[in-house]
Order: sequence, then C-alpha cells, then structure tokens
Amino acid sequence: MSVADGIEHLESAVPIAGRKAPPCAVVIFGAAGDLTQRKLVPSLYNLANQRLLTSTGTAVIGIGRREIGDLEFREHLGRELAGHIGGSFDPGVWNWLAPRTSYVRGNFDEPEMYARLAEALERARTQLGTQGNVLFYLAVAPEYFGLIARNLKEHGLLDERDGEWRRVIVEKPFGHDLGSARALNRELSETLRESQVYRIDHYLGKETVQNLMVLRFSNAIFEPIWNRRYIDHVQITVAETLGVEKRGGYYDKAGALRDMVPNHIFQLISLVAMEPPISFQADAVRDEQCKALRAIQPYSPEDVQRKVVRGQYAAGMAGGRQLPEYRAEHAVDPGSSTETFVAMKLAIDNWRWSDVPFYLRVGKALPRRTTEIAIQFRRPPMMLFRNTEVDRTKSNVLVIRIQPDEGIALKFGAKVPGASLRLGSVYMDFSYSDHFGSTPATGYERLLFDGMLGDQTLFQRADMVEASWAVVDPILALWKTLPPAHFPNYHAGTSGPAEANELLERDGRHWRNNLD
Ligand code: BG6
Repeated sequence: MSVADGIEHLESAVPIAGRKAPPCAVVIFGAAGDLTQRKLVPSLYNLANQRLLTSTGTAVIGIGRREIGDLEFREHLGRELAGHIGGSFDPGVWNWLAPRTSYVRGNFDEPEMYARLAEALERARTQLGTQGNVLFYLAVAPEYFGLIARNLKEHGLLDERDGEWRRVIVEKPFGHDLGSARALNRELSETLRESQVYRIDHYLGKETVQNLMVLRFSNAIFEPIWNRRYIDHVQITVAETLGVEKRGGYYDKAGALRDMVPNHIFQLISLVAMEPPISFQADAVRDEQCKALRAIQPYSPEDVQRKVVRGQYAAGMAGGRQLPEYRAEHAVDPGSSTETFVAMKLAIDNWRWSDVPFYLRVGKALPRRTTEIAIQFRRPPMMLFRNTEVDRTKSNVLVIRIQPDEGIALKFGAKVPGASLRLGSVYMDFSYSDHFGSTPATGYERLLFDGMLGDQTLFQRADMVEASWAVVDPILALWKTLPPAHFPNYHAGTSGPAEANELLERDGRHWRNNLD
C-alpha cells in the first residue's frame, strides 16, 4: 500500500465542513493501549472519512514499547477498526490512512526513542508534507506526562519555529486530588505554554454536551428563565449498567468520585451554570466556566456527612447481566472501601444560583444506562385549582438527554380531556437522531479536530481543573479518615443506596428518574 493509494478516492468527495485540519503529524504516546485502538485511530478514520484531514499533510505516528514495525502496527490497528468506528467500514478510507501511519518503538525515558521520533517527524515533514506541525497525544498514565514533556523539550520537539506549531493533549485522570493536579500543572508549565496544553475531557466531545451552550444562548426563551427566580433545582444523573469490567486496578484506587465528578460532571455543571461568555473564543468561554466552578461552595466535614452519599455494589443483575459484587471484581481489593456510586447536593453561591440546589448522582451497576440533566422549574401557584380535582400543580421540567437516545424534552401540564378539570403531564420531545440522523462517531473526532485547528474551547484550562479538585478535596479527605460503615450498600441493578433518595426527600424533592 502506498501513500498515493486511496487519495483519489478521498479527494473526489466534497468536504462536509467548511474547514479541514491543517497539515500535521498526530503522535500518539501509548500506541499499544486500548484508547488508541478503540477511540483515537477510529476517530482519525472517521475524520478521514468525512474528508476533514488534508491529503497533503496528514501523518500518524504511534509510540509504544512493543518491538514491532510499521506494517505490523497498521495491521494491529486495522484488525479491529471496523468494530470501533460506529458505522460501516470503507476499506478505501483505511487504505488512505494506513500508509500515513508509522510506529516508533521505545520507552518514554529513553533518549534514543526521542531521537527516533525526531527522525520520524522529519520524514513526515518531507515525505508527507506535515509542515512541521505536531499534535502530541499522551494516552498514558499521568505520572508520565511530565517525563514525556521534559524529554520532548530537551530534544527540541516542542520548539515552534517559523510558524510551526506543537501542541500536547493530555488524557484524564489529571491528578488524583488538588495537590497532585497542581503539581501536574506546574510540571507541564515548566516545558509548555498553557496555549500548548490541551487537557481532554471526552464528555466535551459529545454533541449533546456541546449543544448545552447553543441551547442556552441561541434561544431567546430559555436564558431569561435560567435562574433562581424560575428554577427550583437541577438534577444530573450519570448512570451506567456496567461494573468495573477489566479496569478494577485503576478504579479501585480512583472510585466513582474521582473518576467522574471533578471532570465529566463538573463540565456539565459549568455549562449549565455559567454566565453568557462575551464571545465563543476559548478563553472567554473558559473564564465563565471557571467562575461557575469557583462559585461552588466548599464542603465542611459536616457538609460531607450530610450532603454526600457513597455506595458500593453487591452482586446482582444489571443491564441484563449478572455482576459479581464489586469486591469480587478482577483486580479489586476484597476488603475495598472504594465507592462505585456517589450522590451529592451542591450549592453554587452566586447571584444566579443562590438557593438553587444542584443534585447529582453517578454510579456503576445501575439498572439503566442514562446520562441526563433535568432543570426543574418552580411550581405555579395552586390557588386557581383549589376547588378542582387537582391536588397539586406540577413543575415544568426541561430534560437534556446526553446519552443514549440524545435529545431534549420539555414537560408541561395539560388538561386531561373530559368534563372535570384534571391535569396531566405531557412532553414536547426532540430526538437528535430523528431530526439530524446520526453520523458515525467515537466521541473523540471533534476534540482531535479542534486540537489540530488549535481551538482550546473544549479543553480544560489549568485553573478549571484546580477549581474542580478544590470542591472534591474535602470529601476525599473526610472519607479517608472515615471508612464507609455499610459497604456494599446497594445491589447491582438497583438505583443506588437508599440514602441517595433521602438526600432529596429531606428537601421535599425526589429524583425525577427512578432508573428502574
Ligand atoms: C470514563 C470513566 O472517563 O468515562 C469510566 O473512567 C466511565 O469509568 C466513562 O465508564 C463513561 O463515559 P461514557 O462516554 O460512556 O459516558
């Protein structure tokens, strides 16, 4: 297969978007890993399929420890590709991408590896036309971020000469608490400017998450009521049916709180709670997100006890599969006190959200896979209905379904037909796939594309990461000193521990979606 193969095939098509990625090499550290095979290369394939990569300047270089050559690496990636792209496989697209893909072997602390990488980049520049631009993707554990960045720097691979650019995408987890996140930021700042660092959070690659800003700011009807005068509270649910699968080793050290809350869920919260930015420029948006995160009230130890619930699953059927108890999962400590479920109530103490609680819950081994944000509006006054069969007016709810079944629904009251006055709840429902159809995607396409274009809007800035960890830190600190008393406390396939319901019931509220 040569680089020329397949070019015609791709060039004959019209780009689906106005812009294409600029010439560049994408260098993936951790090329043998799951992420590369399941998400990154399939995303590059999808971008190529959508004609968003340039045929005169695209290169992909994988770096790994295995002793293999370019051909074997391409075969390895190609083998499972069809199963990961989310649509039907076109061999022509892979025939186009594969010859642009090469492999560099070595350890991350080995100077010779960086010398080999420099040669590979030079080949990509001269033979594939990448113009010296490089997007490094660190799909590796965070302890390697600093080491790799330092080595890249020492070998001159971060120098941006003559209009070339060099950027670095780093994967989550970005630290395991506030101290370690700060240390990582410091370490990266020694070798990189903030404008070169792209901290990825794959939730921001989801169309429905990106749509939150569009929903709020491109519609005149929502923003005027998006505040404490009209909104009673906000609920965010991220429920998964899976257990920890093969990731017990990582998960048992992380737990549900670290794994999901300061990253994915706080991204959702910041987009729901932020003030309108002055533009869609990356820093204008991230300034507002960061302000919202900073306004989250810190928890005292008493708050943690009252407002944060943790759970761990016992054996049960979830999502049609029998799961063992968490403590019996592969690579999990049999006496583990790691949480697989968290629910919490938090307060955003600013003018817009004062006294509007945000309730969130996230967990594994729950009955149904669903991620949604529910904006619960205040109830209308009751007085007109006093002498009718209506015993209680109901609140309007705007439900933003992030996944699966992406869409938005507005719940409102309607008269049930008949002689008496009775109220029913009905929905206006918009479904993404019904309306727009669906484009095959892994969720990483947009993020990789933005990395190539140099748009940091969907990437976390150092201060956002630290503001998020600052909220979670007191919870981690208290839990460390106070091991959970009743683990396991929910069965796989149920909607979490009873305390998660009590968290809302104490406030006279309930979870909108009982997950069953
Ligand atoms: C990852 C977490 O970041 O996100 C996983 O480490 C979790 O534990 C996953 O399952 C959820 O992502 P998604 O896109 O399936 O909601």
